[in-house]
Amino acid sequence: MVRPQWTLRTARTQYVISLTADGRNAVLDHWGAPQEAVPRYDQPDRVLSHITETDALPLEYASDGQRHTAFTELRVDRGDAGTGAVWTFDPSAQVRTDAAGDELVLTAVDETTTLRLEVRYRTSPAHDVVARRILLVNDGADAITLPRAFSAGWNLPIGQRARVEYLAGSWAREFQRRSIDLDWGTFSIGSSDGITGLRFSPVVAVTGLGDHEHAPRSAPAAGYGITLAWSGSWRMQVASSSVGEHLRVSAGVDDGTTTVTLLPGERFESPDSLGVFSAEGAVELPQRWHEYQRTLRRDIRRPIVYNSWMATEFDVTVRHQSQLARLAADLGVETFVVDDGWFLRRSSDRTGLGDWTPDPDKFPHGLAELADLVAELGMEFGLWVEPEAVSPTSALFAEHPDWIHHADGRPLLTVRNQYVLDFGRPEVVEWAEQMLRDVLDSARIRYLKWDMNRTVSDGGRADDTHGREWAVQHAHGYHRVMGMLRREYPEVVVEACASGGGRIDNAVLAVSDVVWPSDQVGARDRLVIQDGYLSAYPAWAMSSWVSDDDGHRDRRAVSLGYRFAVSMCGVLGIGSDLLAWSVTERAEAARMTAVYKDIRRIVQDGTVRTTGAPDRDLYTVTFCGPAEDPRAVVFVFDRDRDRTRDRELPRVHPAGLAPDVAYRVDATGETVTAASAAALGLRVPFAWALDAEVLVLTPAG
Ligand code: DGJ
Repeated sequence: MVRPQWTLRTARTQYVISLTADGRNAVLDHWGAPQEAVPRYDQPDRVLSHITETDALPLEYASDGQRHTAFTELRVDRGDAGTGAVWTFDPSAQVRTDAAGDELVLTAVDETTTLRLEVRYRTSPAHDVVARRILLVNDGADAITLPRAFSAGWNLPIGQRARVEYLAGSWAREFQRRSIDLDWGTFSIGSSDGITGLRFSPVVAVTGLGDHEHAPRSAPAAGYGITLAWSGSWRMQVASSSVGEHLRVSAGVDDGTTTVTLLPGERFESPDSLGVFSAEGAVELPQRWHEYQRTLRRDIRRPIVYNSWMATEFDVTVRHQSQLARLAADLGVETFVVDDGWFLRRSSDRTGLGDWTPDPDKFPHGLAELADLVAELGMEFGLWVEPEAVSPTSALFAEHPDWIHHADGRPLLTVRNQYVLDFGRPEVVEWAEQMLRDVLDSARIRYLKWDMNRTVSDGGRADDTHGREWAVQHAHGYHRVMGMLRREYPEVVVEACASGGGRIDNAVLAVSDVVWPSDQVGARDRLVIQDGYLSAYPAWAMSSWVSDDDGHRDRRAVSLGYRFAVSMCGVLGIGSDLLAWSVTERAEAARMTAVYKDIRRIVQDGTVRTTGAPDRDLYTVTFCGPAEDPRAVVFVFDRDRDRTRDRELPRVHPAGLAPDVAYRVDATGETVTAASAAALGLRVPFAWALDAEVLVLTPAG
């Protein structure tokens, strides 16, 4: 039989799959720059000494049973000695093309005909993104358990040695850029927190190192990006083995803590894993992700927020908040957000969560009094909530002690003095939806910050036949409530937060308007976090407050201008205690807020590229505006320039200006092009502040 072959096309790439001659395996023929005719993958005999054929093939989705020694994305357990599944694929699958892109569904049945697999592909052609997921259906009469049911196995045709770039961190240190040169073996990142997590972000950028004995099949510099659009526990693994011509990236729901159970007739659909290829290398992958993420964004203004958390913490009173609101309005703030501490018994992080009524001592006339004042001041009003959390002393917990995650009867564990509500229970999700409706209907609220401040322990519930799927259920419950907000309260801007950047991923970007990348607001430390964030996630969603905090690591003082410039690289917010600012500082802040309003379209709708490193001398972040505002903005951050030597203005070499455009630099009158900026540089007068510059470049003529 002629082996069926399928080609998925995007603007600059091709993803080609075929079946092996026996119809049992789908293999990758090519993923990279478009080719005229792609040969069907044919395994060189020499790779097969001492291993089975399927252990070396670039399988599109590998199962135990099909493979024997190599890693597999799917493990199937029927309670007997044999594990896994041996598939027969339907050769008649067809690529369907419509305005949204290409779609391919490969269907296979296992040898017992009780388990059905669909390997699904969808392209986002303009962005070179291929989205993959799987569906598994139990067509048999007995339960089947899946100790691992990943979304995808990606074969990267780059040989076996690779540089893997990833984002690691912890609380207040999220999105630190790291890389590892993988020579042999596996590299694994993930979260078993029940949420995306603070420690790693579900995204890798992979570039072949090109000196492996198997010649790379694409240009050595080519970069591949893989991510998982998922807000629950997850794992991604990059594997370099001794055989084959591909490096393998596998991604899916965490297999350490999750076992999927399929009762007769049940199905499991995995989250999407997204893959993108760039012939220009890993350095271009952030652009590809940002372009793709624009499709997830809804058209709503992301306002300049004042958030009172850093000024007040739990000490919230209507009088104090009103004072802050008056000052915020004078600065040009658009939305005033009361953070944690507004509700009953919330005088510290020990109490209050779950009982979402305004504290009458703090708000004797309810929230409407402050919301009305904020409206009179010309701003919108916003509120913080943590719907998944409950304090042990709350009325909600007293009434529903069974609503929290607690699978095993062991002593209950608190983190930040709170339990987590089990969003796998439909009644809990319904309660959360109604609670949010009640809060949002109680005053004119146009901004909601949804926080989540702990990892989940003892996940699930004892009597759940799907008990070890709690992290999947929880993530689905969270997304259901976020979906309700978008449907029923489309006018409310939703900020996603989890102790900082603990739940940022491509699934959250589709249901929120902004995300809070970190509780680290010290400007120098923040800049490092933002640099990492922007390598995978977009500026339009990056909530960033100006604060008076010194930071945790690089504590050297910075100017107010520096602090504003850092926050202006995303969605500007202000978190300082405005009552502690001098009149001069407030006037300066109002001026800089006005500049942000002028350039925010360039920042939020444009492209972004960085040069240098945020913790080194002279780092630049350059935004190049969309057609509607073709100006560019170059933010320059100076760390430790030796100012005693500055006889001349220092120069930077920003990347990312539009080709073939001559720009006039507003502050210096210089004319620059992308080529001259790269070759000769651009003078920086440091007129904005001693340690930071904001250069606006206007197309000349
Ligand atoms: C963690 C968030 O990241 C902070 O911004 C703040 O909202 C606190 N929680 C409030 O408890």
